[in-house]
Amino acid sequence: MAQQNLLLLPGDGIGTEIMAEVEKLIAHLNASGQSDFATDTGLVGGSAYDAHGVAISEEDMAKALAADAVLFGAVGGPKWDDVPYEVRPEAGLLRLRKDMGLFANLRPAICYPALADGSSLKREVVEGLDILIVRELTGGVYFGEPKEIHDLGNGQKRAIDTQVYETYEIERIARVAFDLAKTRDNRVHSSEKRNVMKSGVLWHEVVSAIHANEYKDVQLDHILADNCAMQLVRNPKQFDVIVTDNLFGDILSDAAAMLTGSLGMLPSASLGAPDATTGKRKALYEPVHGSAPDISGQGMANPIAMIASFAMALRYSFEMVELADKVEGAIASVLDEGLRTGDIMQDGCKKVSTSEMGDAIIAKL
Ligand code: NAD
Ligand code: IPM
Ligand code: MN
Repeated sequence: MAQQNLLLLPGDGIGTEIMAEVEKLIAHLNASGQSDFATDTGLVGGSAYDAHGVAISEEDMAKALAADAVLFGAVGGPKWDDVPYEVRPEAGLLRLRKDMGLFANLRPAICYPALADGSSLKREVVEGLDILIVRELTGGVYFGEPKEIHDLGNGQKRAIDTQVYETYEIERIARVAFDLAKTRDNRVHSSEKRNVMKSGVLWHEVVSAIHANEYKDVQLDHILADNCAMQLVRNPKQFDVIVTDNLFGDILSDAAAMLTGSLGMLPSASLGAPDATTGKRKALYEPVHGSAPDISGQGMANPIAMIASFAMALRYSFEMVELADKVEGAIASVLDEGLRTGDIMQDGCKKVSTSEMGDAIIAKL
């Protein structure tokens, strides 16, 4: 088995707590001969700011670019609320995404059978849910220029963010969505706001053209993003794959998270383009949730989004599909047995800590 290099970037808050569970899992898989991962650890977010005055150091950035895959915990917290905007903890994550070219963010929302009654929605609305949000991750209003605040000198200020998309950025994310749809239920909803945004007009035009020229066999529907948010809560099972821009994807995926029972359940994969010679993609695997300052340091965080993100790394970076299935199966069976962290607690279930949940999942392997 060839050795694979993983860079672990736990980050801040519960990021360090959930990453500790993945470290135990990797140690177990290595020791039992199921994998051969070499891991290195770096700092990102507030922890990097405290050590180096930046949200990620050049040294750790270079390690991320050289690794076979990066596992990312979460960044941010009230301690860094007042640091300069350019070095805010979140800037470390944005730089990783941009400099690694991670334009495709896959956010699967799956309702595990045991949690069908754990959602804030009715069982029949979420039972069997399996949708995939494909979020564009390196463009749009997150990165468009100008991005600034001007003092108008009359006691007023003007803040500007710029939503920018070019054809190639929409084409490549559309292809990712259509290709993934072919492996699933063969349906894509493309979501934008072409009724008020020029970038929405272009998005609609480009996705339609890619569909007509390359993916006629996949069903394509267009849906305005506000309606999409409503439909996700009204009847989420009407969706298979949703492809959308950076900001809408951020918001729609947090909404989709609650369909599964908790934000602590949602993993994600952030992928770059395949390398022209090796075919390998740069990749970073990150839970959808943040550093959860309200519960950090208490051993209460749900490690499942992080562990499921590692399973996505096995699947998408290392072609270890059977092991990925096994890890996801272990998550399902501990949930079936009634183990719950606080965020997914239900009547009659057993409340466990972050590390007890990690241990239970490892015990299944
Ligand atoms: P959050 O996702 O950190 O928390 C929202 C709510 O969900 C909180 O009540 C939290 O306790 C709960 N929650 C989140 N993950 C959980 C888990 N694994 N287990 C149990 N409960 C969980 O969002 P926020 O409070 O808006 O943001 C806090 C900080 O995190 C901010 O600085 C924000 O910028 C940052 N953030 C980072 C990322 C990231 O690193 N990828 C993502 C989102 C937010
Ligand atoms: C996410 C987060 C990030 C985003 C922040 C922390 C930069 O909310 O990954 O969903 O907005 O993309
Ligand atoms: Mn988010």
